[in-house]
Amino acid sequence: MKIAVPYKINLGLHILRKRNDGYHDLETVFLAVPDGDELVLEEADSLSMTCSDASLPTDATNLCMKAALALQAVTQTTKGAKIHLEKRVPFGAGLGGGSADAALVLKGLCELWQLETSPETLFHIAASLGSDVPFFLDATPQFGYGRGELLQPLDYAFPFHLVVAMPNAFVSTAEAYRAITPNDQNRANLCKLVLSNDLARWRNELVNDFEAPIMALYPEIMTLKQQILDFGAGYAAMSGSGAAVFGVFEDAEHATNAKRWLSGNAVRVVGEH
Ligand code: C5P
Repeated sequence: MKIAVPYKINLGLHILRKRNDGYHDLETVFLAVPDGDELVLEEADSLSMTCSDASLPTDATNLCMKAALALQAVTQTTKGAKIHLEKRVPFGAGLGGGSADAALVLKGLCELWQLETSPETLFHIAASLGSDVPFFLDATPQFGYGRGELLQPLDYAFPFHLVVAMPNAFVSTAEAYRAITPNDQNRANLCKLVLSNDLARWRNELVNDFEAPIMALYPEIMTLKQQILDFGAGYAAMSGSGAAVFGVFEDAEHATNAKRWLSGNAVRVVGEH
């Protein structure tokens, strides 16, 4: 079974407050982007994993294996699987690549093993694997809140062209949260802002709270954002806790030009859509 795995960008991200459990309450609009990693699942006697990227572990510490092990434990199935991951989405990017892999392993194995796992059970397993994992179970536009695991579907069609690029920097999520000062006062309504599709308003009001503190630590992220804006993007922002930056373009030609220039300038272009 071959599975195309999406990744995500955040259209606005507010870190509201630190919680007693060590996580932060946040609000964001998640948008799934196609053409991320690829998974191949095959039924087998036991559970094993291979990966195209040799720098990633393939033992029980990999999020794909954690997902499969958790599903086995919860459903008490004796079935196994060979999991192969073609890794294309960079990590330390804020694109949710690892979370997406885990969610699609859960969904894929439910099908492969013919399990009748309820959506609630899948949600609980997904949320236990990471805050972003539940979003990828459905991967339609969603308003995310809580620690990111609580979701409300948003009736939204993204009408623009997207270019996603990765600078020469990797940000760990935990590091990003340490750099931030939460704020829950007078925050803009993210859903309304996104639904307006007004890129001038997005530029002025649609904020990712991680951007300023992370760009202060990694100036190359700010440079990349500025380059994307200079190529005619109507909006550009860092995704999640970084370091990837996405540009939103009104027309395909500007998007393609930006992609071409970025690709030739030592920046890894993750995708153009
Ligand atoms: O949930 P996930 O495993 O992706 O989180 C990684 C780390 O990011 C957590 O251990 C925590 O330090 C931080 N985090 C947070 N608040 C969130 C999500 C993540 O503080 N809402």
